[in-house]
Amino acid sequence: MTLTADDIDAESLHSDFAEAILAGLSQTARNIPCRFLYDARGSELFEEITRLDEYYPTRTEIGLLNAHGIEIAKLAGNGCAVVEFGSGSSRKTHILLDHMNTASAYVPIDIDDAALNQAVAQLKQQFPELPLHPVHADFSHGIALPREIENAPKLGFFPGSTIGNFELYAAVDFLERAGSLLGEGSHLLVGADLQKDLDILLPAYDDAKGVTARFTLNLLHRINRELSGNLEVERFKHRAIYNQRIGRIEIYIESLIDQDVEILGRRFSFGKGERIHVENSHKYTLPQFRDLARKAGWETDQVWSDADDLFSLHFLSRV
Ligand code: TRP
Repeated sequence: MTLTADDIDAESLHSDFAEAILAGLSQTARNIPCRFLYDARGSELFEEITRLDEYYPTRTEIGLLNAHGIEIAKLAGNGCAVVEFGSGSSRKTHILLDHMNTASAYVPIDIDDAALNQAVAQLKQQFPELPLHPVHADFSHGIALPREIENAPKLGFFPGSTIGNFELYAAVDFLERAGSLLGEGSHLLVGADLQKDLDILLPAYDDAKGVTARFTLNLLHRINRELSGNLEVERFKHRAIYNQRIGRIEIYIESLIDQDVEILGRRFSFGKGERIHVENSHKYTLPQFRDLARKAGWETDQVWSDADDLFSLHFLSRV
């Protein structure tokens, strides 16, 4: 079946998602921005990834927050407003706030309205005294903080090595903007994944049960559903590759055969083995991350990592 423009409603044609897919698939090096992986089903699958045996980052970072929470609270000082970038389910927030019993407010920032509401509802129960000021926004664009926390000292929180999903220049840019947003004298607690052996790294992004594969390929289901696509998901596969030169995991969706597909009435041809780039996950050494932070105007006060050097937490101060 070929769709005509009349069959496709104007809204889906002009959505952010539609534009990104049509533009991303029209380039020679095909790519789709990773934020589109996180629709409702995608967020559910990602949550499942964080519980996999092979996916060490989440449990390791939680271990670090538990082990060093008291020290983090001490470094941050009394009466801080905690501002979290891309809060999602806020699982790690509970641990941080548990230790920060003098926090004056919590400000979760997320693009997913449903995740934001759910996180707020849960936190309200666990911390009934703590003022919550959710901000529904894309933290990679310009945002403003709520008036209520104007005069409080601020602790930014950016866990999950989400910083590693940015290209290096974009990571610096993000840290700079977080600095201007949080202001003079603020602190930032950032989770950063570390370089390590490939026999640990690769399975974390390509697990035995195939949850990660389902997560990336869910993007194709989303295209079919929201953009009148006719992709046969079984004709594509998930690929995780380590780029040694840049020091990052790269995630692709790869065509298993020569094929033509249609999206919003437009035809796209894929050769066998042709890939769509959907994610980068940079892995750092401790000095590399310290330099990155410094370039963005942050001084490193303290770094914690686990006994196996899998993951690191950086406590930064704005210089
Ligand atoms: N922030 C996560 C990371 O870089 C995101 C992630 C984990 C991811 N597994 C993935 C993204 C698989 C795409 C595909 O570790």
